[in-house]
Amino acid sequence: MDYGKIIHIFDTTLRDGEQAPGCSMNLTEKIAVARQLERLGVDVIEAGFPASSPGDLTAVKAIAQLIKDATVAALCRALKTDIDKAWEALASAVRPRIHIFLATSPIHLRYKLHISPEQMLEQAVAAVSYAKQYCEEVEFSAEDATRSDLDFVAAVFSAVIKAGARIVNIPDTVGYALPQEFAALVSAIKERTENIEHVQLSVHCHNDLGLAVANSLAAIEAGATQVECTINGLGERAGNASLEEIVMGLRVRHNFLHADTAICTEQLYVSSKLVSQVTGVKVQPNKAIVGDNAFLHEAGIHQHGVLANRETYEIMKPESIGIPQQRFVLGKHSGRHAFETHLQSLGMPVDPALLDKIFLQFKELADRKKEVTDSDVTALVMGISGTVSEVTWKLDRWVVNSGSSLSATSAIRLQHKDGRLIEKVSVGDGPIDAAFKSINQIIEKEPVLELYELSAITSGEDAQGQTMVKIAWNKRCWNGRGVSTDIVESSIKAYLAAINALEWEFGSTAD
Ligand code: KIV
Ligand code: ZN
Repeated sequence: MDYGKIIHIFDTTLRDGEQAPGCSMNLTEKIAVARQLERLGVDVIEAGFPASSPGDLTAVKAIAQLIKDATVAALCRALKTDIDKAWEALASAVRPRIHIFLATSPIHLRYKLHISPEQMLEQAVAAVSYAKQYCEEVEFSAEDATRSDLDFVAAVFSAVIKAGARIVNIPDTVGYALPQEFAALVSAIKERTENIEHVQLSVHCHNDLGLAVANSLAAIEAGATQVECTINGLGERAGNASLEEIVMGLRVRHNFLHADTAICTEQLYVSSKLVSQVTGVKVQPNKAIVGDNAFLHEAGIHQHGVLANRETYEIMKPESIGIPQQRFVLGKHSGRHAFETHLQSLGMPVDPALLDKIFLQFKELADRKKEVTDSDVTALVMGISGTVSEVTWKLDRWVVNSGSSLSATSAIRLQHKDGRLIEKVSVGDGPIDAAFKSINQIIEKEPVLELYELSAITSGEDAQGQTMVKIAWNKRCWNGRGVSTDIVESSIKAYLAAINALEWEFGSTAD
């Protein structure tokens, strides 16, 4: 088959996706997502923004060491200090890429950067030249390109290509463009940029008007060779272009677009599930490609048609994106081998050193629940993996009392990583408040609880409750997620997960 041109997929779930409210991931979760992106076959994994926090630096470093089959990119501003940090993180990557961004639009230059267009151009060229001493592959992004002067963007691209940029990227940073307009912009930039034929032309679309995927496909038709996107369309505000929609758009409409990607589409469903699990951000049921309803046929006339011939109402097969045709039910009689095989089918091969521990927890859960679902299993793996390297405080035991005629009280005992056991008793405005107050006393910090969200991750009376919390301390925020069949316990676990992320970054007061 003639695949036409092959479009490079630059995944930014771990950077732009992670910037979305409530989407931050811990190190173990980022590594699990990076591994899955490699299995999915993306060309580039943007692993983070190392200068933005020590946690990001560590995560990019870890991913750069691990990933062998994809380029690993790190974002940085057009500053020497940021570029140094990006390289510190990327140095061990098999295929490293330094990704520099600087805005070109009048509004950003004037109000955010306080520099003239001439200074911007000079800074962009200096940054690319500086990055080239470290790394052959340097990408330059003209932030807010769609609200910039076209000739200016072309002049900046011509100059950074001369300085050594191998990829130039046109971001629709605020999701403002319309498809025909964006295609015209890409064509014009191709025409007006010197030596553009020797580099890759990339686009990066945000979804503020719901057009990120349409704009990306229009850009491909106009000559873009790389698209930047995220799993489930996660990202700042309304998100980025959804990777699975772009990939399947190209695959299903190959007859029109004459382009394809190297993505293994059978890994799309697992990737979506994994990202949803680790971020706690649910996929809307009617989301294209990976939503729960994407392949459901409700109306009788549709069901009739599909039974006669699936193609009456289906333009792609669920198997082509890896939706399991046979649901494999795990329960208390499942053995270790079946459990391990199931983890692999979910895209979560587990370190053999951890498997025994996870299997034991699975058995305990299976005793409490009739059926252990994929969401339960993912939560279990992430929960355990998350406790391997980054835990300062471990829950040892807890008792919480509450009722209509007494104040809620809690007694919580935590174990510090140095082995000490500390217990505190508190009174609170409800059981969760009391529990969190006990924890605050133990850790000797009082973070602000910015978000608390409780939901059922599976259905039925024995469903597991998932709690998401966001805490703020010292002008920084951390998320935590906890899962249990007991909602007080899931809340305590979520709070502790966020506290452990905080301690990992700042060091424990009790150290
Ligand atoms: O949206 C944007 O402009 C970006 C750049 C950093 C590429 O994310
Ligand atoms: Zn972006």
